Amino acid sequence: MVNLQGFVLLVVFPVIGAIGGQIPVIDGVIGGVSKAVVSVKPQDFSVAATTPGKLRVIENSGICETTPGVYQASGYGDLTATQSIWFWFFASRKNPDTAPLALWFNGGPGSSSMIGLIQEHGPCRITNDSSSVTINPFSWNNEANVLYIDQPVGVGFSHGDLNVGTSQQAAADVWTFLQIFLSDSRFSKYQKNNLAIWTESYGGHYGPAFAAHFLAQNAAIAAGTVSGLNLNLKVLGVGDGLTDPLTQYPGYIIYAGNNPYHPLVSTSVIARANTSWTSSNGCRAQITACNNGGSNSVCSAAQSYCNNNILSPLAGNYDVYYVPATNPDPYPPDITNYLRSVASKIGAEATWQQTNRNVYNNFAATGDWMRNSRPDLETVINAGVRTIVFDGDADYILNFNGVEAMVDKLSTKFTAVYQQQKFATYAVAGQTAGQYKNAGTFSYIRIYGAGHEVPAYKYGKLATGQAAAQMFTQIMANQSLSST
Ligand SMILES: *[C@@H]1O[C@H](CO)[C@@H](O)[C@H](O)[C@H]1NC(C)=O
Ligand SMILES: *[C@@H]1O[C@H](CO)[C@@H](O)[C@H](O)[C@H]1NC(C)=O
Repeated sequence: MVNLQGFVLLVVFPVIGAIGGQIPVIDGVIGGVSKAVVSVKPQDFSVAATTPGKLRVIENSGICETTPGVYQASGYGDLTATQSIWFWFFASRKNPDTAPLALWFNGGPGSSSMIGLIQEHGPCRITNDSSSVTINPFSWNNEANVLYIDQPVGVGFSHGDLNVGTSQQAAADVWTFLQIFLSDSRFSKYQKNNLAIWTESYGGHYGPAFAAHFLAQNAAIAAGTVSGLNLNLKVLGVGDGLTDPLTQYPGYIIYAGNNPYHPLVSTSVIARANTSWTSSNGCRAQITACNNGGSNSVCSAAQSYCNNNILSPLAGNYDVYYVPATNPDPYPPDITNYLRSVASKIGAEATWQQTNRNVYNNFAATGDWMRNSRPDLETVINAGVRTIVFDGDADYILNFNGVEAMVDKLSTKFTAVYQQQKFATYAVAGQTAGQYKNAGTFSYIRIYGAGHEVPAYKYGKLATGQAAAQMFTQIMANQSLSST
């Protein structure tokens, strides 16, 4: 019955978020909560020949990265006999032995990191007709080793028991995966290199949670209470992220009425959403209750209410990931057929899907969406991990109004300096590309012309992904942002 209802609604609303969408549409609501949310535990896939605690690897498949001499590997880290995490690793095009190692995670929750690889900043990018890929001159592996990870178990090419329904549970599995990855003889040489976490969208929760967990595990290893490899975390990058919903949700009301492009809905729709925010049992009150020690059901109800009454209706007829376009924007192009066509060559075992709804539903059941990840972000910044928060100004679903409110609310050792900063113009090769602030080892940048998947867009005379690549390069080199 529930499945049937979901199916019918998908047919009735085939277009909402259907193309570039990383955040599922449930019963017509973007980021909604299914009426009959039940935690899903069973395996959705199994293979006999897993190697618990070890990697299974295909080296140099020749897929995607076609630069001569650049090493790549893809495969699985088997957490257990029935839980396999998919990875795709690309060595740096320059100095791979000394280059830092960057991890990439897409959001959802439940969405595959192959989105980032093939649509955003990998060595190859999908063509506009979705039929093939072309080399990406602004790939993030130009100067870094990049490891794309499909997580939690069940997402993308990963497969097995679905036991994860919170960002903290996800963090524990990613840490375990990295222990396996960095213990493998092919990759142990990267143990000492600088490590970075880059992520977007639901990564506003994942990034701070993963980084804080890595630091806590490092401390426990140093104290002798946990055994394992120290993770040399130096950088955290969060793009278009959901971190602190209580601070960010008013951003929907502001952005829908006034953004660099056009209003998304009429003033009456905005007024209704505003009432849903402020009313006594409204969205603000429900997120507050969630954040003040609320149970999973309180947080889950807040997600349902707020996305039903604020996030979804305020999008109007525009693509929530890129508001200059009406919904659905066919760009970035779909990658499903391409990934399925190369799956056997890269050693992938599951049938690739952009988003695993069961994983999403497990998170929706805990209300993890509405929990506040800002304290973890503050911990990570204060620990000296260089951190950048970035946002594309054409993205509605995690718009810059909300993200900048979250950044303004950060309470860290750099807050006083940050508050004194005025936005400076960010130029790339002499062309304006955005506006930014630096404070200590923290930076924020709003990137002009970019939608939700920031590196997938271009602006002015710049090429696709050029502005994002400059940002990535500067931060990975442990520099503050600066114009060129
Ligand atoms: C692909 O489509 C996007 C969005 O319409 C456009 O900006 C880009 O130039 C196109 N790419 C090519 C190679 O035509
Ligand atoms: C929402 O309503 C309040 C009054 O209740 C008002 O002060 C505020 O400006 C409104 N916000 C928007 C974005 O319209």
